[in-house]
Amino acid sequence: MTTPLPPLLVVDDEKNLRLSLQTLLGDEGYSVLAVESAEAGLELLAKEKIFMVITDARLGGMSGYDFLNRVRNRWPKLPVLMITAYATPKLAVEVIKAGAMDYLAKPFAPEELLHAVERCAERHRLLSENAHLLARATETYQLDQIVGDAAKMHELRQLIQTVAPTDARALILGESGTGKELVAGALHSLSQRCRAQYVRINCAAIPEMLLESELFGHERGAFTGALKQKPGRVEEANGGTIFLDEIADMSRPLQAKLLRFLEDGTFTRVGGTQELRVNVRFIAATNRDIVQAIATDQFRADLFHRLNVVQFRLPPLRERGEDILQLAEHFLKLFNAAMNKSVKSISRGARQKLMSHRWPGNVRELRNVIERALILETTREIQSGSLPDFQLETRLNKTETLAATGDRAIDELVADFERALINATLAKSNFSLTRTAEQLKISRHALRYRMQRLNLTPAEDEPPAPAGRTGPEA
Ligand SMILES: Nc1ncnc2c1ncn2[C@@H]1O[C@H](COP(=O)(O)OP(=O)(O)OP(=O)(O)O)[C@@H](O)[C@H]1O
Ligand SMILES: [Mg+2]
Repeated sequence: MTTPLPPLLVVDDEKNLRLSLQTLLGDEGYSVLAVESAEAGLELLAKEKIFMVITDARLGGMSGYDFLNRVRNRWPKLPVLMITAYATPKLAVEVIKAGAMDYLAKPFAPEELLHAVERCAERHRLLSENAHLLARATETYQLDQIVGDAAKMHELRQLIQTVAPTDARALILGESGTGKELVAGALHSLSQRCRAQYVRINCAAIPEMLLESELFGHERGAFTGALKQKPGRVEEANGGTIFLDEIADMSRPLQAKLLRFLEDGTFTRVGGTQELRVNVRFIAATNRDIVQAIATDQFRADLFHRLNVVQFRLPPLRERGEDILQLAEHFLKLFNAAMNKSVKSISRGARQKLMSHRWPGNVRELRNVIERALILETTREIQSGSLPDFQLETRLNKTETLAATGDRAIDELVADFERALINATLAKSNFSLTRTAEQLKISRHALRYRMQRLNLTPAEDEPPAPAGRTGPEA
């Protein structure tokens, strides 16, 4: 599933800056192309697939701003990060208005740049995942693709069969990697709407402003860059099913609009006045604790009740240990075929190892482990040596820090642990302070304070978005 990221393009007329960006980003595993002028940049963009551009505002020849303009016009979806000599709020607004995705003022810390790039990379991955999902939207999901003999899995398949043919809304809850997408797909495939569109939207993948226009469409001129009228995905789903994945990540204002749509089926395009109406079935999913999200006012209780007509709760893999080996065999077959290998079985040692792991990443983690094992395996049987060292991983995650003593004071050790925990949680929640704070069960303010104390660069997400910052791409 993970397709390699295309290179990113650095445009800067200073050779030293080009070189240092190349090293910095190269060390993080990005592939980097660097050119010294906007003209050369445009030429390269026309030839190569690039996932984002980093440009200096001041360039010899065509300026960074003119360059940005050209890029906006020709490749409206390409994120551009602008580096400016100094930051003023006015300049920031100008840069963002001109269509840059983000900007950094010199001098900047390497982590700041890396965060910004990682955000673009993540967005690129999620958007291409959405495109990928769109492409296989016609593929059907069947019940027998949902593997597992645990009683809860039988009940789950039964419930899908009962509910699918009705028009009832469904809310699918469960930890990451438990199979929520499979369930949503099966609900559509087994419904009377199966011949109509199955539209899937990942609410976490799309910036807030863009999400509204993605869902409900926009009129021409609704915002800068809205060059043409665009129908919403809900219109595309007319007669079919719409699957709103990661629903808990939707902003409050958009939740209100969605609520109205769920209440009477009407909506208006962004910038439009005409009330439109469609007939779609709703399926929503989230891996977040929705009750907690309601309690902390991040998710509307009334919207929850509207969506929560039939609730599917997917059990984590650790609660259905009996399914681990069956799933492992299932993926073994799948990847043998895909990789043209003939590793036919799993050794006893490997089985034991699989059974004793807790699987925090659930079925997705198991799937990845088997895929990796198959790549590494040189015999005809998966040996335990081809599996990751789960114990080591668990120790690294938990007790390693507890065991570490040596000559350091307890405060220092605790600070190390705290730093590692915050970093790991940040990375897991895509550098969102809000989500990280939520996971760590402290306020956002308290999190910032701790990060400052620990000398962690606060992630720069969720700034008070200036107008046009997340303006949808035409
Ligand atoms: N019961 C199952 N049988 C077979 N494959 C499964 C099962 N559950 C999950 N998978 C596979 O595991 C992977 C992760 O599942 P899925 O994408 O549905 O997870 P998810 O619950 O949507 O997770 P996230 O919250 O992270 O989006 C997929 O490749 C899916 O096909
Ligand atoms: Mg999912």
